[in-house]
Amino acid sequence: MTNQTRWWQDAVVYQIYPRSFADANGDGMGDIPGVTAKLPYLKDLGVDAVWLSPFYRSPQADAGYDVANYREVDPLFGSLADADEMIARAHELGLKVIVDLVPNHTSDEHEWFQAALAAGPGSPERERYIFREGKGPGGSEPPNNWDSIFGGPAWTRLADGQWYLHLFDSKQPDLNWEHEEVRQEFLDILEFWTRRGVDGFRIDVAHGLVKAPGLPDWEGKVIMAEGAERNTPDGPTAQNPVPMFDQDGVHEIYRAWRAHLDTLSPEVALIAEAWVEPLSRLALYVRPDEMQQAFNFSYLTADWGAASMRTVITDSLESMNSVGAAPTWVLSNHDVIRHISRFGLAGKGRGQNGLFASDPQPDAARGRRRAKAATLQMLALPGSAYIYQGEELGLPEHTRMPDEFRQDPAFERTGGAEAGRDGCRVPIPWDSQQPAAGFSFGADAAPWLPQPEEYRELAADQQVGVPGSMYEFYHAALRIRRELGLGGGELAWEEELMQQHPDLVAFENGDVLVVTNYGAEPVGIRARARVVAASDSAVTAAAEEVVLPAEATAWLRRG
Ligand code: NOJ
Repeated sequence: MTNQTRWWQDAVVYQIYPRSFADANGDGMGDIPGVTAKLPYLKDLGVDAVWLSPFYRSPQADAGYDVANYREVDPLFGSLADADEMIARAHELGLKVIVDLVPNHTSDEHEWFQAALAAGPGSPERERYIFREGKGPGGSEPPNNWDSIFGGPAWTRLADGQWYLHLFDSKQPDLNWEHEEVRQEFLDILEFWTRRGVDGFRIDVAHGLVKAPGLPDWEGKVIMAEGAERNTPDGPTAQNPVPMFDQDGVHEIYRAWRAHLDTLSPEVALIAEAWVEPLSRLALYVRPDEMQQAFNFSYLTADWGAASMRTVITDSLESMNSVGAAPTWVLSNHDVIRHISRFGLAGKGRGQNGLFASDPQPDAARGRRRAKAATLQMLALPGSAYIYQGEELGLPEHTRMPDEFRQDPAFERTGGAEAGRDGCRVPIPWDSQQPAAGFSFGADAAPWLPQPEEYRELAADQQVGVPGSMYEFYHAALRIRRELGLGGGELAWEEELMQQHPDLVAFENGDVLVVTNYGAEPVGIRARARVVAASDSAVTAAAEEVVLPAEATAWLRRG
């Protein structure tokens, strides 16, 4: 299939984290009927699609990324009928629906793993996972030296003496993708949800399914950077290839998926969550016969500054163009410190897995200023953009969450050294007057994670229709992006302008001039232009000069 002119190419996708979006039954946990009730809000906001993090049956050891049954909805979130209704309602409103697929591992409560436990060493049931004998006297040491991305060893030993691999929590055993039944099962799961009408799949840990033969020791360090799976601060190198990620063999799996989906529904998109660098490696996942999009984490983790942003945008466009795929852009998700807070940190804020109250706190004004500038730039870039729930309300990270509430397994597995990702997963405030700021419809059940004090004044009811609010900023930007066709446009660098002003990133997309000032000083540019959108009300356009204050983006039209 070609990646041309498909719905996802310029789509703005809104990520819903179901646990924290909207709680319709008042139990303190978001659910699918809550999502359905809020779809009109998302339609009004101006997005094209929603992506829901997992809502399948799960013991919730990793907030649903530990799936016990891929074809059932967890009762916490509702029923299959609720999912069908949500999909139907979204389609009525013209919104596409992307669901999350977790193929690298199952829950230890999945029937396959339970069968493997019961059947014992050497059984065919164990072949579907990665069981090994240990090393050392009596096999008492793990089969290799790999660490879990959540901290601690990547192997757990059973009472019968065998070890099993889990790149994440011990309740998330890795599947053996060399096994034909595993491959067939996921084709069937793709089919199951495609037949229920979904428009796309976000593929969790898409770079992890195939491991290097022999599972060799690795001297690099698997770290939690941004709360997700990156390997070394510098990424893999030829001298130090990462044996658990980005193996060439993974691509044939996605070719088989694409081929299968093409027979069922060619419009269904596959989206890779692959923390792979450099971007030229990421591009391999979106070759025409594989997936359609890959999250651009290089953009998310890029340093604040004109030179680094220009480089990452150039590399992104080149890499994606080289395979004919649409670029994507993202600043926040459920694994990283919300960008409004990340940009407010004195350091880079990347590589940091959550914040404790005792950590240096973000500068809220700086974070908001930079977040708006970054968002307005992102929404003017050609391709598809991802928005994480609540960023349109300017919700900050919960940076002072008391430890007793933390649920991310990374907090426990690192012995409390890492705060984990709970701070970006806090329930959304909808109504400042209601208990839990309207997260739970009409009920006063405590939300599953506590909301920080400032969430109440940021509730949707305080912002929708209120000029100058973050919501209205997103709302207007999304409308103008659509009207001007920016997502489907092309980027042409404004070389001269950037040479004159090294703090600027400036490009044209169609007849819109998009300029971001990364510097600490205002910049005046000679142009006869009118401001179409601005991240800062201090952007001015006089007869022959446009002035951008520090850390601001403007969309301009000449003449
Ligand atoms: C990436 C997901 O986004 C993250 O939340 C999860 O913990 C890991 N993959 C493991 O499934």
